[in-house]
Amino acid sequence: MSISGDYAIIGGSGLQALKGAKVEAQHSPDTPFGKTSGPISSVLIGNRRAFFIARHGVGHMIAPHLINYRANIWALKDIGATKLVSVASVGGIPACYGPGALLVPEQILDYTWGRAGTFFGEGVPVKHIDFTNPFSNTLRDELLRAAERCNLPVTDGGVYAATQGPRLETAAEINRIERDGGNVVGMTGMPEAALARECGLEYAMLAVVVNSAAGRGESAGGIRFDDLAVVADMAMSKVEAILKELVSR
Ligand code: HPA
Repeated sequence: MSISGDYAIIGGSGLQALKGAKVEAQHSPDTPFGKTSGPISSVLIGNRRAFFIARHGVGHMIAPHLINYRANIWALKDIGATKLVSVASVGGIPACYGPGALLVPEQILDYTWGRAGTFFGEGVPVKHIDFTNPFSNTLRDELLRAAERCNLPVTDGGVYAATQGPRLETAAEINRIERDGGNVVGMTGMPEAALARECGLEYAMLAVVVNSAAGRGESAGGIRFDDLAVVADMAMSKVEAILKELVSR
C-alpha cells in the first residue's frame, strides 16, 4: 500500500508520538519479515503528510536488540516514505556533547551483533551496498536547515557508535569507542541505517544527547536515570519543533 508523503519519522526513547500532529490514520502492516514495532501513523503537520513509527513499540516494550528493523524499514518503504529521519537518544562522549546537545551525525561505528541486518542473502541473491557515507547528505542538510530556521543549535557532524544494549556501556568501553573515533553512543542506529540504504531510502539521524556517556561528565560515578528522563523531555520539544519545520516546508 502506498500513500503520498515523503518523510517518515522513526521515534526512539522519549519520542513515542509527535505532539501537535494530527493523526489521520494508523496502519498495522505485515511484511515478509514479520510485524513492525507497532502501527505506522500517518500524520498531518501543517498540510503535509508524514509517517511516524515508535521503534520501541507502544509503551516502549521492545529492547534495541529485539526490534524488527527489517519489518520497520520495509513497511515504511511500502507505505511510500522516501526520507527516513531517525530520532535517537544518545550518550555524549566529549564534554562538548553534554546533556541537551543535538547533532546530525555523519558517520557510524557498529558494535552491535546478532541482529538481522540485511534484506538479501536468504533466498534472494546477496547484494553488497556502498556504505562509505552511511547517512544521506541531502536529508542531513534538510534537517540542519530546518534547525537553523527554528534558531536551535544543532551540530553538523559527529560519529555515532551503535552498541548492543540494553545495558549501558562500561567506562572502559566508552574509552575504547572514543579511541575508535566515536562521539556519541546509542543502541538503535544499526542495522537501521544499513537497511534503509539497501532499500534505496534516504536516512539521517537527529541525535539527542540525554546523558554524558558512562564515566564522563555528570556520569563519572554512574548514570542517573532520573536526570535522563528530564533532559529527554526538554530536548524532545526542540526535536519536535525541528521535525515540524522540516516536514511542513
Ligand atoms: N549509551 C547507549 N545508548 C544510550 C545512551 C548511552 O549512554 N544514552 C541514551 N542512549
